[in-house]
Amino acid sequence: MSTQGSGDPPGPLATLLAEHIARSGPIGFDTYVAASLYQPGLGFYQRGGGAGRRRDFITSPEVGPLFGRVMAGALDRWWVKMGRPTSMVLVEVGAGPGTLARAMRAAAPQCAGALHHFLVEVAEVQWTTHPEGVTTLAEFPRPADLPPGPVVVLANELLDNLPFALVEKTPAGWVEVGVGVEQIQDGSLVLVEVPSPNGTLPASRQAWCDQRAGDDAPMGARLPVHHEAAAWLGDALQLATVRGGRVVVFDYMATSAELARRPWTEWVRTYSEQGRAGHPLEIPGSCDITTEVAIDQLALVADPVRVWTQAQFLTHHGIADLVAEGDALWAESGICGGREVLEAGSRRSEADALTASEGLGGFTVVDWEFPLP
Ligand SMILES: C[S@@+](CC[C@H](N)C(=O)[O-])C[C@H]1O[C@@H](n2cnc3c(N)ncnc32)[C@H](O)[C@@H]1O
Repeated sequence: MSTQGSGDPPGPLATLLAEHIARSGPIGFDTYVAASLYQPGLGFYQRGGGAGRRRDFITSPEVGPLFGRVMAGALDRWWVKMGRPTSMVLVEVGAGPGTLARAMRAAAPQCAGALHHFLVEVAEVQWTTHPEGVTTLAEFPRPADLPPGPVVVLANELLDNLPFALVEKTPAGWVEVGVGVEQIQDGSLVLVEVPSPNGTLPASRQAWCDQRAGDDAPMGARLPVHHEAAAWLGDALQLATVRGGRVVVFDYMATSAELARRPWTEWVRTYSEQGRAGHPLEIPGSCDITTEVAIDQLALVADPVRVWTQAQFLTHHGIADLVAEGDALWAESGICGGREVLEAGSRRSEADALTASEGLGGFTVVDWEFPLP
């Protein structure tokens, strides 16, 4: 198994994890990601890392307010399609600093009077910038916790940050790859095979891996196993099934078969301070750890009604009209028009960034829709 190559001091979370592993044995990669991102006080998101121009990476809402404006229009279309209910619940999960929520509210959708807007964000340090008028929760709500009405669940770049396990194809079968400590050298964290009772994963898991990766996946192939994303999606779909409405997720995605044929270091990535960071085991807690999401594993939970690229989704929901409106406003008032006109004038460059096929526009949008009960 590959090891990290570090020169930097690994930090307090590495020490904590190494002590835990020395006591109790190797941990799964999912447990490692959970600690690296969400360990209270030490995990990347719990320390205030995350999306934003002055933070670690740019997401679609952080490009500017246009993404939120398009989403506000989409919300109105869904509300009208559902018969303009007098009460509708929007649950945005993995809300980070609340930038999308702010932009959607500023766009003043027609459905605003009916809307109960909830943000779900596990890292409380991110709540300080959430806008007024929303309710922030630390966990995904149960149906009984919410006001009446249909539900729209939105998640932008959440699933890639939910802890995932790693498996590898070996001559003996698929094994789980986790994190141990280097005994011979300096006690640093290394990738190891996580022992399971039979040496390899149970037969049902072997068949699952072969099905996802394809029987002819090369030896040494690795796969993410999105068990937390699947569980989260199950809860979100259950809520939307009971209430009617939809679940819409945006993320960078591929298929398990594609991922199995690419080096894992290409689809597991680390970010900090607007750039790529080092090996995921290098300094746990110092950077984001994220994976491309295997869309086939989401479809196992339930078949979506539609899969789009982000560019297709934004085009369907009127991004070109908003850009044209912005251009007209800018042409009319220019720099003297104040903040609103300045914002309108930047829509064209924001749209370029949001729809670029090699960038955000190439992200995948997966959409599940449920009738009103
Ligand atoms: C990549 S950031 C995306 C932030 C925002 N949606 C955006 O697009 O800018 C992912 C966020 O999801 C949060 N998160 C991770 N697991 C979560 C969970 N189970 N429930 C709610 N939020 C979670 C993280 O703390 C982080 O703020």
